[in-house]
Amino acid sequence: MAVHRIAVIGGDGIGPEVIDQAIRAAEVAARKHDGADLQWAKLPWSTAYYKQHGRMLPEDGWDQLKAYEAILFGAVGDPSVPDKITVHELLLPMRRKYDQYVNLRPAYLFAGVPCPLAGKKPGEIDMLVYRENTEGEYAPVGGNLYPGTENQIAVQTGVFTWKGCERILRAAFEAARKRPRKKLTSITKSNAQVYGLGLWDDVFHAVRKDYTDVDSGSLLVDAAAMDFVRKPESFDVVVASNLFGDILTDLSAAVTGSIGLASSANINPTKKFPSMFEPVHGSAPDIAGKGIANPLAAVLSAALMLDHLGLAQSAAAVRAAVAHVLATGAVRTPDLGGSATTTQMGDAVVAALA
Ligand code: NAD
Ligand code: IPM
Ligand code: MN
Repeated sequence: MAVHRIAVIGGDGIGPEVIDQAIRAAEVAARKHDGADLQWAKLPWSTAYYKQHGRMLPEDGWDQLKAYEAILFGAVGDPSVPDKITVHELLLPMRRKYDQYVNLRPAYLFAGVPCPLAGKKPGEIDMLVYRENTEGEYAPVGGNLYPGTENQIAVQTGVFTWKGCERILRAAFEAARKRPRKKLTSITKSNAQVYGLGLWDDVFHAVRKDYTDVDSGSLLVDAAAMDFVRKPESFDVVVASNLFGDILTDLSAAVTGSIGLASSANINPTKKFPSMFEPVHGSAPDIAGKGIANPLAAVLSAALMLDHLGLAQSAAAVRAAVAHVLATGAVRTPDLGGSATTTQMGDAVVAALA
């Protein structure tokens, strides 16, 4: 039996709660549909770990992780410790250190899921957001002068490189080419941010020449935000910079029913370093510990991981099980208007897989 070794970082808040359900579903599917054995190494790296050790991960943590084929991640962030530590010592450096430059975030309106927009049919909203994940507005470049005084000055610099823009745009064009609608929308704010996003536009115009079979165009992010609500069905593949991709994918999650359904993959396409799979949502301190978080975003993220591991049948089975559970509608967590628990939702997926 093929064995795949996966690192699991549940993290904080609802992270470990939803990841437990993702593990169950992926394990059952991999064994049944691809005859594969998934071996999980649970790593306790989190805010609790930080409070005990003064750091988010051990000194050799980044080396440890390289031994795994993939990383399944819950979320980090806790009100008792600044995000400047939790998020900035674990999540964001992981994306950069392992060059996970493709952040793929699908948004799909499943049958049986209440849509906040009137008159939308299942499957009518079906987009793949390709978010640049290693540079742009998230570049760790900047600083503070005269902190704590009224003369304080803060500088936060965006970094856009031709190579960085080109590789995410090409990844998005390749995906668009394989989809029935073959449509791609590049999103910037180059009317205001003329240098960084102006470069993005230049690269977009250069790269699109290689993809004349794709119906490509660009939109400014303010107008795009409006259209994500007004006519989300008009989008197919969307490609955006780090910050805009972040914001737009909470929006695409909301219009497809719940952030509790939004999955993501942080991919290093060269496979030189492990890729990481996590729900779009965070640690949700407001519902943590109550056992009511929707685990399906994590389950669908595990399906993206199965795809990455080459276990395509297992990935498809997990997605089909999720679609079945949602369509039946008997088991729904509160974000979907029901009263089921996280575990009951996980049970329903496992039952559908069996
Ligand atoms: P959040 O995504 O954690 O929560 C936003 C809202 O969505 C909350 O009302 C929450 O209850 C709800 N929600 C989120 N996931 C849900 C689920 N699975 N089921 C049902 N409802 C769900 O965003 P936030 O409150 O802005 O951030 C909380 C913390 O998480 C912060 O510290 C933030 O920095 C961090 N964060 C981490 C990640 C990550 O590690 N990948 C992602 C986003 C936010
Ligand atoms: C996400 C999160 C992170 C991001 C935060 C926690 C820095 O919102 O993964 O979407 O903005 O990338
Ligand atoms: Mn986000």
